[in-house]
Amino acid sequence: MSARVRATARPRPTARRPAASRRASAAPSAGSRSGRPTPRDLIREADRARRRAYAPYSDFPVGAALLTRQGRVIHGCNVENASYGLCVCAERTALWKALIEGESEFTAIAVTARQGHGAPPCGACRQVLFEFAPRLWVYWRDGRGRILRRRLVELLAMPFVLRTRRRA
Ligand code: THU
Repeated sequence: MSARVRATARPRPTARRPAASRRASAAPSAGSRSGRPTPRDLIREADRARRRAYAPYSDFPVGAALLTRQGRVIHGCNVENASYGLCVCAERTALWKALIEGESEFTAIAVTARQGHGAPPCGACRQVLFEFAPRLWVYWRDGRGRILRRRLVELLAMPFVLRTRRRA
């Protein structure tokens, strides 16, 4: 899996290799004894991030909280536009923000919508996150408020990967 992803020739936002080419990330530990956010903590952060959502067209605010390997939590929210096709999901704004700030190793993401709405990441966001963290833990709530979790590789069984040929 690693070699496939590393084969891209595009410039990267940081000098570091994509996480996809490194060893699989470990799941965040269950308790807060380690000082790392629990799934519940991360869900709460996503709820906070959701307050900044700009969703006047769908009225469906979404928040995301992306956890870096070093334990930093980076917020994202959906940002919509009158030209609907330009709307961006919360997961992707979190990822853009992280990359811009020099973060490129991630262990988990939580995504939340309003209470009563399940919000697993959409297919496009799964693909975009996969580029950096195929073994990312993904947390979201179902319609009844229970926290669900899956590895990103489980949610995106057949990602698109680009093989490019180097020219001599
Ligand atoms: N949305 C997200 O932010 N994340 C997803 O994974 C799915 C959908 C947003 C996009 C749009 O602003 C609104 O939810 C309704 O689709």
